[in-house]
Amino acid sequence: MKAQLAIFASGNGSNAQAIIDACKQGIINADVAIIITDNPNAFIIKRAVKENIECKIFKPKVFTDKLSYEKEILKLLTALNIEWIVLAGYMRLIGTVLLTAYPKKILNIHPSLLPKYKGLNAIKQAIDNNDNELGVTIHYVDEGVDTGEIIEQEKITIEDLNLPIEEIEAMVHSVEHKLYVTTLQKLIN
Ligand code: GRF
Repeated sequence: MKAQLAIFASGNGSNAQAIIDACKQGIINADVAIIITDNPNAFIIKRAVKENIECKIFKPKVFTDKLSYEKEILKLLTALNIEWIVLAGYMRLIGTVLLTAYPKKILNIHPSLLPKYKGLNAIKQAIDNNDNELGVTIHYVDEGVDTGEIIEQEKITIEDLNLPIEEIEAMVHSVEHKLYVTTLQKLIN
């Protein structure tokens, strides 16, 4: 039986794409059953259409609070027998409804060697700090911002911090895509 995954994403979705590809190739023994986004303009929606994966837009503003927002998402996840929630550039904190329903089953990826540089613009935070030890962390999600238990990390040493930030980001992203796939493989297969 293949595990059923839900990917939550708010933007480009390059990590989501790497995971979709790995599922299709049987590298991860799972199906991406649904993509959930909070952003009607996210590029991930186009990827979902191309991949023929169901994609639902949940606009938080439509709901009275986070509780009702997540309850609505949970209904859908339950109906689809989702076992794992994979955050891939999802720009919101997960609340108690989903954390309670999915203990140790919600993962996130962050472009730093946590606990260094939590939150937004982690790569830029490292560069601004003149720190050439970048990295990628995969962790379980808790109620905090990038604070959950760490599962895997990979260090990326940047020789020249004066490179254009886009180049540095591209190096980090390519490590992200591989590390997310191998971590999911270990957890699920
Ligand atoms: C990644 O850098 C990830 O670590 C962070 O958000 C970014 C998402 O990129 N949480 P993408 O949408 O997967 O391309």
